[in-house]
Amino acid sequence: MDLVTALARARGPQAPGPDSPAGPAVRPWPGPARPLPDAGAGQLDLGRLLRLSLAASDASGRLRPAPSAGALHPVDARLVVGTDCPLPPGYYGYDPLRHLVHRLGPAPDDPRPGATVELTVTARRTISHYGHRAWPLLLLDTGHAAAALWLAARSLGVGHATADLDGRSESPLAAVRFVPPDTPRSVAGAPAPGDLTARRSARPPLGGAPPRGLLRTVLAAAVEASAGELAWCAAVGPPHPGLVEPAADGTLRRLAAGDARPALAAWAAGQSWIADTGAVLLGHGCPSDAEAPRIRRAHLRAGFAVHMAHVTAGRHGLASRPVGSWQQADLGAALGAAPGGDWIVHGLALGTTHSGEGTP
Ligand SMILES: Cc1cc2nc3c(=O)[nH]c(=O)nc-3n(C[C@H](O)[C@H](O)[C@H](O)COP(=O)(O)O)c2cc1C
Repeated sequence: MDLVTALARARGPQAPGPDSPAGPAVRPWPGPARPLPDAGAGQLDLGRLLRLSLAASDASGRLRPAPSAGALHPVDARLVVGTDCPLPPGYYGYDPLRHLVHRLGPAPDDPRPGATVELTVTARRTISHYGHRAWPLLLLDTGHAAAALWLAARSLGVGHATADLDGRSESPLAAVRFVPPDTPRSVAGAPAPGDLTARRSARPPLGGAPPRGLLRTVLAAAVEASAGELAWCAAVGPPHPGLVEPAADGTLRRLAAGDARPALAAWAAGQSWIADTGAVLLGHGCPSDAEAPRIRRAHLRAGFAVHMAHVTAGRHGLASRPVGSWQQADLGAALGAAPGGDWIVHGLALGTTHSGEGTP
C-alpha cells in the first residue's frame, strides 16, 4: 500500500463505493486464550490497563472504550511482556472482546521490566465502509488507541508510560511502553478510571459555544499532546465568528474572521451538523509532499492529541465528538497561502449542549 497515494486519494472529492463486509471484530490470534491474572505487589497491572483502554466492557455493545471512525475499531494490540508483570515474559495477542490473551511466542532474550503494547490495524474493517478514505482514519484511530493506553496508566498511577508515535514503522504503527512503578501512586490531574470507561462521543447536534477559557484549555491539551507535529486552531460561530488559535501568552488570537463552520461541514464529508456546532477544534499540517513516515507521524499524533482534547473536554463538562474524514480541506489555501501546504488532519466538534450520549 502506497500511503502517499492513499492519502492524496482520501483527500480528493471522489465518494467511496458501497459497504463491504468488515470481517471479524477481533483478530483471530492463534492458540488457546488465557485470562490476565491479577497483578501482584510491584507488578505492572496489565489487566486493569487494558480494561480501561481497549477492552469492550460496557453493556451498549461498544467494541472498545476509545472512539473509532464508524465504530469499526480496526486497531489490534500485541503485548510484549517483560519481567515484573502478571504474565510470564513473551509475546501475546490481546482479545478485547473477551479480555483474554493468546500466547504467541517466547520473549526476546533478556526481557526488560514492564510491557509494551504494539498497535497494528486490520485495515479491512475501516475500508469496509470508508473505501479509499480509510487510511488516514486507520492512523487516527491508532493514535486514539495509544492515547487511551497512555491515559489508563496515568489514571491508575501504575508506572511510567511512553508512546512511540514516530511513524517510522509500518508494523507496528505505534507502541506504548509501560514501566512498572515501585508503588502505584496517583498522578495529579489524571482522569479517574470511571471517566475513561464512561467516555462517549456526544451525539449531534452539539450546540452552544464553549466559554473562551474552556476552549483555551481544550486547545492547550491538543497542543501539548501533539508535540509540535501539528498546528491547532478552532472555528467558532457568532457573535464573533472566526478561527482562533492559541497564542504564546496563553490567550486566543484571531487567525481569520468569518464563520468557517459551513465550509468545515462541506469538507467533512458533508456532515451538515458541523455547521451548527459550538466550536470545531482543528489539527492541521501534513503537506501534500509529506512522505510516508511523516504522514504516519502526523496522523498518529493528531489522533493522540484529539483524544486528549476529547477527554479534557469531557472532564470540563463539554460535549465533544471527533471528526476524522476530511476532503479537499486545504486550510492553508483557504487562508491565502499556497495550496497543498497545510491540510486539516483531524477535528473535534465541541458544544455545551447535545441531544444525548452515544452514536447517531
Ligand atoms: C478517527 C475518528 C474519526 C471520527 N470521525 C467522525 C466523523 O467524521 N463524524 C462523526 O459523527 N463521528 C466521528 N467519529 C466518532 C465515532 O463515530 C465514534 O467514536 C464511534 O461511533 C464510537 O462511539 P463512541 O466514541 O461513543 O464510543 C470519529 C472517531 C474517530 C476516532
